[in-house]
Amino acid sequence: MEPDSSYAVQMHGITKRFGNYTALSQVDLNVRKQSVHAILGENGAGKTTLMNILYGLYQADEGTIYLNGTPHSITGPNEAISNGIGMVHQHFMLVENFTVTENIMLGDEVCGPAGTLDMRMARKQVLDLVEQYGFEVDPDARIEDISVGMQQRVEILKALFRGAQTLILDEPTAVLTPQEIDKLLQIMDDLVASGKTIIIITHKLKEILRSADECTIIRRGEYMGTVDVSQSSEEDLAAKMVGRNVNLKVEKTPATPGEVVLDVNGLVVRDDRGIEQVCGLDLKVRAGEIVGIAGIDGNGQEELVNAIVSMTKAEAGTVVVGEEIQNTSPRNAIAHGVSTIPSDRHRWGLVLPMMVSENSVLEQHDKSSFGKGIMLDYNKMHEYTSMLIKEFDIRPSGCEDERIAGLSGGNQQKVIIAREVTQAPKLLIAFQPTRGLDVGAIEFVHKTLISERDRGAAILLVSYELDEVMDVSDTIAVIYHGKIVGTFEQGTVGEEELGLYMAGGGAK
Ligand SMILES: Nc1ncnc2c1ncn2[C@@H]1O[C@H](COP(=O)(O)OP(=O)(O)O)[C@@H](O)[C@H]1O
Ligand SMILES: [Mg+2]
Repeated sequence: MEPDSSYAVQMHGITKRFGNYTALSQVDLNVRKQSVHAILGENGAGKTTLMNILYGLYQADEGTIYLNGTPHSITGPNEAISNGIGMVHQHFMLVENFTVTENIMLGDEVCGPAGTLDMRMARKQVLDLVEQYGFEVDPDARIEDISVGMQQRVEILKALFRGAQTLILDEPTAVLTPQEIDKLLQIMDDLVASGKTIIIITHKLKEILRSADECTIIRRGEYMGTVDVSQSSEEDLAAKMVGRNVNLKVEKTPATPGEVVLDVNGLVVRDDRGIEQVCGLDLKVRAGEIVGIAGIDGNGQEELVNAIVSMTKAEAGTVVVGEEIQNTSPRNAIAHGVSTIPSDRHRWGLVLPMMVSENSVLEQHDKSSFGKGIMLDYNKMHEYTSMLIKEFDIRPSGCEDERIAGLSGGNQQKVIIAREVTQAPKLLIAFQPTRGLDVGAIEFVHKTLISERDRGAAILLVSYELDEVMDVSDTIAVIYHGKIVGTFEQGTVGEEELGLYMAGGGAK
C-alpha cells in the first residue's frame, strides 16, 4: 500500500530482532484517521513490540513509518509525543502517592510567568479534558485511592494533555470490570468522534467486534492480514490469530461429584484496614466438580482465597480440607493438598528475576528430589523443567535458563499451572486464571481445569469474567458483599439473572 495522508499511521515492512530472535518480520500496519484499529495476536506475537517501535521505545531493524503519509524516524518517546502519538502501557506508570493532576503534569510541567509550576492552570486544563470526554476523574484524588479503571483514564488524560492525536492502548481491558470496560469503549467512541485515532491491542474478540473498525492480525511476528471487522466473526478472528480453528465453547461432560473436599463455614475476614470483606461465608466444593464464584471485583473474593490458603487471618469460621486449616500457614495448606493459581502472576505467582527452572520448583525447594544437602540440585531441576516445558507446551524464546520476566504472559501462566497441577492437588484454587491471556492460552487453561476435575480434584474457580464462570463451572455461586447470595447449577441460570445477584439485587 502506498503512503497516503488519509492514514494517521502506516508501518511498512517492519522487522525487529532481539539478538538472534526475530520478534517481527515484515509486518505492515495501516491505520485510517479517525478510526479504531485493533491489533490482535496471541501472547508473544509481537503486538507490544510493534507499538513500542511506533512510540519510539525501540528502533526497527527494517521498515518505514509514515505519519499522515510522510515518512518519519521516531527515535524516542519525546519524538512520538511531539508527533501526536500517545501510549498507555499495559502496566501503568503512575506515581501512587501523587494526585491525578500531579501525575498528568509529571514530565510536562506547566510553568507560570516566573517559571514556577502553575498548578492552578494545570488543574484547570485537566478538568477541561475530564469534562470534555466525560472521564469522571477527580483531579485532586491520589492515585493510590482510585480504582484501576480510573488510573487508566488518568493515563489516557496524560496522553491527551500532551496533545495526542493517535492513542495506543495496550491491552486496556485486561484489568477492568465489565462496567469499566463499557465506560472505556464509550470514551473511545467519543475520542474518535472528536477526531482522534485509536490503536487498541486486545485479544478479546468480543471487544474487537464491538469497538474496532479494522483489525490487523499478527501471528508469531508475522503479518496475517487486516480485516474489516464488520465483515468478520469471532471464529474467523480466532482462527486467523492462532492458525487453527479454536474451540470457543468449553467442552466437558457432566460432573460426577464425590465427597466434600473444601468446606468453608461462617468465614469472616477483614482487610488490612479492618473492614469486614468476607462476612460469614459458607461454601462447599466436592471432588470432581468445578465451583465457580461469580462476582464483581472487590466483593471479598481476594480475602476469601487468601483466608483459605492462610495468607490472611480468618477472624471467625472454619476452613476444612480434611481438617481445619484456617489460620495455619500457606505451607500447611499446600501440605493438605491445596494448590493455587493466583490472580496476580507478578506479585504471587512467580519470582520474576528467577529463572524458569527455579520458578517451576518454587514451593518444592525443600523436597528431597531437588536438594543436595542444603543446596539445590540444578541438574535435576533442569530435567524436571524440560519435562514441564514439553508437556505443557511452554514456549520460552530461549532455553529454560531464560529469566522468566522475558516470557509472555500466557507462557508465564503455563509455568505456574504446570507447577501447580503436577502436584496432583486435592483442591485447586484458580483465581482469575486467564487474566490477560489470549484465546489460545485460555482454551489451554480451561482444558486443564476440566482435566483436573476429571482426575478427581475439587476445583474452586474465582473469576471476574462472568463468561468464564458460566462456561467452565458445574456450580455457580454468586458472591456479593462477602457472602454467597445465590447458588445455581450450570445451565439453569442466564447472564442477566446472575448480573442481578452480582449487583446485590437477587431474590434473598
Ligand atoms: N526487550 C526484549 N528483549 C528480548 N526479547 C523481547 C523483548 N521484548 C519482547 N521480546 C520478545 O519478543 C516477542 C514478542 O513480545 P511482545 O511484543 O511483548 O508480544 P505481545 O505483546 O504480542 O504479547 C516475545 O517472544 C518476547 O519475549
Ligand atoms: Mg503485549
